[in-house]
Amino acid sequence: MNRQRVYKLIVFASGNGSNFEAIVRHIRDENLPLKVTYLLTDNPEAYALERAERLGIPSEILDYKSFDNRDEYNRALLKFLKSLDFDLIVLAGYMRILPPFIVREFWRKIINIHPSLLPAFPGLHAIEKAYKYGVKVTGVTVHYVDEGVDTGPIIMQECVKIEDDDTLETLEEKIHKVEHEIYIKAIKKVLLEN
Ligand code: GRF
Repeated sequence: MNRQRVYKLIVFASGNGSNFEAIVRHIRDENLPLKVTYLLTDNPEAYALERAERLGIPSEILDYKSFDNRDEYNRALLKFLKSLDFDLIVLAGYMRILPPFIVREFWRKIINIHPSLLPAFPGLHAIEKAYKYGVKVTGVTVHYVDEGVDTGPIIMQECVKIEDDDTLETLEEKIHKVEHEIYIKAIKKVLLEN
C-alpha cells in the first residue's frame, strides 16, 4: 500500500491565534496531508492555547517571562525544536523575533504571515500604519523568515482595497479574512506543490 506522506507543522502564536485555528480547520476540512503537531507559545495567557485545547492540538508554553534573558529563552526554544521532527515552522502572530541561530538552523523551514504588502509597512501595527498613511491598496504577505524583520523572500501576497468608508476596524476584518485563506494556500505551495 502506498501511504501518503503527512507533513508536520509547528505553529507559533503569542495571542489570539485565529490564523492557527484557520490553518487547522483548512487541513481538516480539505483532508490535506498536513498535521499541526504543536502549538508553541511564549505567552501563558495566549487565547491560542484555548483554541489548541478545543481543537485537540498539543501545546507547549515557553513562558518568556520565566527566563532570565532573551538568549536563554531562545536557547530553550532551540532545544525544544531540536527534540521534534517537523517539516515547517509557521509563525502566526508570534510576537518575538527569532535569533539568527534559530533562523539558520531551520533555514527555509520557517514562514511568517504579515498584514501588509511587504516591503511596505514592516514591523508592528502594519494595518494601522497602512490605514493612517492613506494607501488605497494594502494586503497580506506570506514570506520565508530570514535574519531581518519581515524581509525574507515572498511566497505569496494578496491585495486588500481600502475603500473611502473603511474604518480601521473594517480594514482589520478584511485583512484577517484574507489571512485565514492565504496562509493555508502558501503552506500548500511550500510543502505540497514542489
Ligand atoms: C495577524 O494579523 C498576522 O498577520 C500578524 O499577527 C496577527 C495574528 O493574528 N503577524 P492571530 O493571532 O492569528 O489572530
